[in-house]
Amino acid sequence: MSVNSQPEIEALFTEQREFAPPPALARDANAKADIYDRAEQDFEGFWTEQAENRLTWFRKWDKVLEWNLPYAKWFVGGQLNVAYNCVDRHVENGLGSKVAYYWEGEPGDARTLTYADLQREVNRCANALLSLGVKTGDRVGIYMPMIPELPIAMLACAKIGAPHVVVFGGFSSDALQGRMIDSEAVALITADGGWRNGKVLDLKDAADVAVSNSPTIKNVLVVQRTGHGVPMTPGRDHWWHEIVESQSDQCDPVPVDSEHLLYLLHTSGTTAKPKGIMHTTGGYLTGVATTHSTIFDIKPDTVYWCAADIGWVTGHSYIVYGPLANGTTSIMYEGAPQYPEPDRWWSIVEKYKVNVLYCAPTAIRAFMKQGETWPAKHDMSSLRILGTVGEPINPEAWLWYHRNIGGGRCPVVDTWWQTETGMILITPLPGVTTLRPGSATRPFPGVGAKVVDAAGQDVPDGAGGGYLVLTRPWPSMLRGIYKDPERFQNTYWSRFPGYYFAGDGCKVDADGYFWLLGRVDDVMKVSGHRISTIEVESSLVDHPSVAEAAVVGRSDPITGEAIFAFVILKTSAEPSDALAAQLREHVATKIGAIARPKMVMFTPELPKTRSGKIMRRLLRDIAENRPLGDVTTLADSGIVDTIRVKAQSSEAEQLI
Ligand code: WTA
Repeated sequence: MSVNSQPEIEALFTEQREFAPPPALARDANAKADIYDRAEQDFEGFWTEQAENRLTWFRKWDKVLEWNLPYAKWFVGGQLNVAYNCVDRHVENGLGSKVAYYWEGEPGDARTLTYADLQREVNRCANALLSLGVKTGDRVGIYMPMIPELPIAMLACAKIGAPHVVVFGGFSSDALQGRMIDSEAVALITADGGWRNGKVLDLKDAADVAVSNSPTIKNVLVVQRTGHGVPMTPGRDHWWHEIVESQSDQCDPVPVDSEHLLYLLHTSGTTAKPKGIMHTTGGYLTGVATTHSTIFDIKPDTVYWCAADIGWVTGHSYIVYGPLANGTTSIMYEGAPQYPEPDRWWSIVEKYKVNVLYCAPTAIRAFMKQGETWPAKHDMSSLRILGTVGEPINPEAWLWYHRNIGGGRCPVVDTWWQTETGMILITPLPGVTTLRPGSATRPFPGVGAKVVDAAGQDVPDGAGGGYLVLTRPWPSMLRGIYKDPERFQNTYWSRFPGYYFAGDGCKVDADGYFWLLGRVDDVMKVSGHRISTIEVESSLVDHPSVAEAAVVGRSDPITGEAIFAFVILKTSAEPSDALAAQLREHVATKIGAIARPKMVMFTPELPKTRSGKIMRRLLRDIAENRPLGDVTTLADSGIVDTIRVKAQSSEAEQLI
């Protein structure tokens, strides 16, 4: 649904419970209450302090911020290197033997990488890339499972100033290909496969198809993870263990400009084509290092675990760049959360004495379903702070997490942010904020956020729901959509002039607490992953039997939203369970398993406005089995009744 036709956002829910910060944590917290005023009085000064204190620059900047809406430049004229900041300088400072990653493979194998190990591996990989002709500024694709070579590859790119384009390993070859073509990558780093739920997730086959259609890719670097045989194309494909391991372990960091492109990460928007979100160097690293240290209260001996996949922005910012910039010890886990048993995560927490756990509400709800006996089997007294990200967390899941994982003693930081924002923007500070389950609480120090109505007028605190906007630049904000400045302007900066439009509904209560209300555009959140309705529709219509399709998100107790597809078949095709199964699989092949519709309903027609626009809002009402909203603009109101009857009949359920 377009934002313009969004009905008033309902915000009826009120959560009353409160949790004050534990006194000991508050006393020793990295951030105290005064941080808000300090940052508010002079936000440029606040970020300057962070950039000076947390990072090492090869050349000091001339100007903190250059803001020509919508384009921001931070630390203009400064030079640095991200890999140097994340690895080398820690070794130079005597932290070479400190653990950077405790890695655990799904089958139970484990590896420990110190900062010195990481430095050696990053340098070898960087030298291998150089030997393959990769130059500063060239884009390099990365399509890998959650193995140590993934952050190593990213850091190797950063070391030579080659922006990386990481594609989530669960995406299909089509999705990979689109991203490689969009970014004109010169090389791809991948693996034979990875382990997921006891099975090999094949990556090389998908990579081969994508690479054969991506003319700019000249070389493919392949990590051997599973050892099952994969075809290698001579001259193009190189085994990591042959080419990387024979390189020198010395490699000088390339100093790059503060605004040098660090990476592209594609994310779904409201059209079928994913957007290549651009993140640059100095501001980005300042933002992620500051938020990571402050929000997770990171100490020198903290064992920290962000259980996301590095293929998403959460992994980029809070498994790789933030923690490593801060010299933190992290956990990295390869596989499925509940493999081989529903307590896999809790055994990892116990084994490594994890202090901070950061994950998605969908994972918490899946654990909740298995019951509290699984976490109860493990000693998790090491935990101090819990975090969530990716979608609104319902208070029940928040309370379950707080009680059964955090033993009732750990603050839960509910962090709101986006691929585009690069860093957490709305969040509690664990030693400062009194928590309300379900609220992301308030903007991070120095961040400007508020809620406006459809006309762009401020919605006063406590007055109800509206649209979340950001009112001033922040250092890790996106610098644009790759090769598409017009879309950048239209998507984020045109709806409410002068503000960044996030695409989320939000209300601020009378005490200034922010309550996120979900997306207000055509983006779904399935297990915390962003999927555009139009992307799924396009892949359905790509099937020879389909004439038209409309896709909506329907609330789901585990995944947050589940994909509900309404499909009109061509007259030559007959509806059947087998065809529904085929269509679901077709989408999984075109986009990836995360986009597979949970429900497919065949329908003779779709509700449309007189101008021919599909009325998604009505379809959502039908999918949710809610009373219908306004139907006055509907061209033929009989259609809705027909679909509604069908949706309620067993016919639709059979196809689930
Ligand atoms: C949603 C993930 C409510 C929101 C880091 C946002 C949240 C989208 C929260 C970005 C939260 C993220 N509470 N909603 N704590 N965190 N979201 O780009 O709709 O994958 O716009 O980035 O996730 O998703 P993305």
